[in-house]
Amino acid sequence: MKRILTGIKPSGTIQLGNYLGMIKEVIEMQNKYEVLLMIADLHAQTVPYSPKELKEITLDIAKSLVALGVNPNKTILFKQSDVPAHLYLYWILGCLVNEGDLRRMHEYKEQKEKYKDEVGTGILMYPVLMAADILIYNADLVPVGKDQEQHLELTRELARKFNKTFKKFFKIPEIYIPQETAKIMSLTNPYKKMSKSEPEGCLEIFEKEQIIKEKIMKAVTDSEKEVKYDPLKKPAISNLMTIYKHLTKKSYKEIEDEFKGKGYYEFKLTLYEAFINFFKEARRLKNKISNKQIERILNKGAIKANKIANENLKKILKIVGLR
Ligand code: TYM
Repeated sequence: MKRILTGIKPSGTIQLGNYLGMIKEVIEMQNKYEVLLMIADLHAQTVPYSPKELKEITLDIAKSLVALGVNPNKTILFKQSDVPAHLYLYWILGCLVNEGDLRRMHEYKEQKEKYKDEVGTGILMYPVLMAADILIYNADLVPVGKDQEQHLELTRELARKFNKTFKKFFKIPEIYIPQETAKIMSLTNPYKKMSKSEPEGCLEIFEKEQIIKEKIMKAVTDSEKEVKYDPLKKPAISNLMTIYKHLTKKSYKEIEDEFKGKGYYEFKLTLYEAFINFFKEARRLKNKISNKQIERILNKGAIKANKIANENLKKILKIVGLR
């Protein structure tokens, strides 16, 4: 059976881009494959953060994932920091990686520009830890949004380099990027991805309904009034249509027909209703999960993840001459 690994960083609550770019794929995959889903709390430390919030957001994200449909009896749901083997492999891969390759990463450049000297080398080494997250399980496939593609190319490169330098051990993991929802754009700027770092343009799934409504109604639109899918000429409404399409399972054509002769206002109101309707059950379930319950789920996940990771680590340490 194929092994899947992916992760989400607890730097803010779950937003629609996370759901459409990655979580919905994992929910599908858990019925067919062995899935490991990790909350990347170590990655959240690469930029300034509050320890108290990190702990709270980590639990909040775990609850959200379960409420959205991640089944802890099928998926191994765990915290990255609960599996020390990731850090061991991170060091080994760090000794193989080219510094120039790390400096070329888009995300590194963005973060460096944003935080300047407020941050340490964690932002530079970020993709090496991602590679370790994936390779310590020898995962076959990694479902992610488009923004992670460059990091995953580096993971593949590092796996090849390790295999060539020492001995063939790692599989070269496949990257799985969903077709239409690979990059959900910000509601305030259709040329920027939806991201927790820009809250006005970001639809947090468990946010108050009133705030979600305000954000959707304020979302930027394009010139003309027509609800028409045309990503080049009408990127803003096309992005909203992609969201609507995946919340309602309607085709672009059906959506265009539905809103023929109607304007953006009506479309946005309907999109808001579709959003609330789609996530209604998840919102209800999330409130029912206690901290104790979710901690138990994460602890169970950690035991299973450690078992796989430690078996591989043992072999890796032998290969690199540490045992
Ligand atoms: P993170 O927390 O930024 O995002 C989690 C997942 O959501 C996807 N995503 C999006 N997809 C479509 N449109 C968007 N606007 C959007 N925003 C986010 C991301 O592509 C991602 O799949 N570094 C990773 C976490 C991580 C990881 C890993 C992932 C750590 N180790 C190993 C895979 C494998 C991150 O910060 O994702």
